[in-house]
Amino acid sequence: MNSEDKKRISAQAALDYVKPGSVIGVGTGSTVNHFIDLLAEKMPGEIRAAVSSSEASSERLKKWGISVIDLNNSDCLSIYVDGTDESNHELHLVKGGGGALTREKIIAAASDQFICIADDSKLVETLGKFPLPVEVIPMARKLVTQKLEKLGGSARWRQDFITDNGNIILDIHGLEITDAQALETRINQITGVVCVGLFAHRGADVLLLGGDDGVRRITGNLRNEKARC
Ligand code: 5RP
Repeated sequence: MNSEDKKRISAQAALDYVKPGSVIGVGTGSTVNHFIDLLAEKMPGEIRAAVSSSEASSERLKKWGISVIDLNNSDCLSIYVDGTDESNHELHLVKGGGGALTREKIIAAASDQFICIADDSKLVETLGKFPLPVEVIPMARKLVTQKLEKLGGSARWRQDFITDNGNIILDIHGLEITDAQALETRINQITGVVCVGLFAHRGADVLLLGGDDGVRRITGNLRNEKARC
């Protein structure tokens, strides 16, 4: 099975968590694109609306006739479905390869259950092989680069990329993340940082991994900092 097929079966498995009539959170990326297409094909008209983490996902949802609403106009979301760049066995995630990390983190925080969908290559023993994305206010680029490099690794400015919020991304290469919650807290405290793509205080609740033998379901930490609907 190729990686697109693995992404698609994980996205398909996430449909089981969608409650008819609900408003759901929808993330960003190629795995989520499968989810949006399957949601439209297999459950047409069944959800009330979606809150989306990027302009790209909003466009795709609207193309299928799915209404997209502002988070400020919705109550607690029952589920948030999104992909990941890496997950460890505790379901701490590195996200933001597509640059949508800040809105993703906001929607994850507003959701009761975070359903993460991915192909099985995304499960790792130690986070950090995938460069850790950090969204930064443009005028703070140099300052934040210096502070990040004190943590180890090298921070590289993602070229020709501006986030949906008008900011830049620094990708930290060469980290070995052994305490994801501590690192998330530390990077969040750097002035000029908008958001770090470590999802450890609020990790995923369920990881659906597509592989050659079907979809493997891993459940996460019940102490996640999540919204309760
Ligand atoms: C975007 C993300 C995506 O979830 C992550 O990059 C995974 O993408 P894909 O499903 O294309 O592998 O965090 O900011």
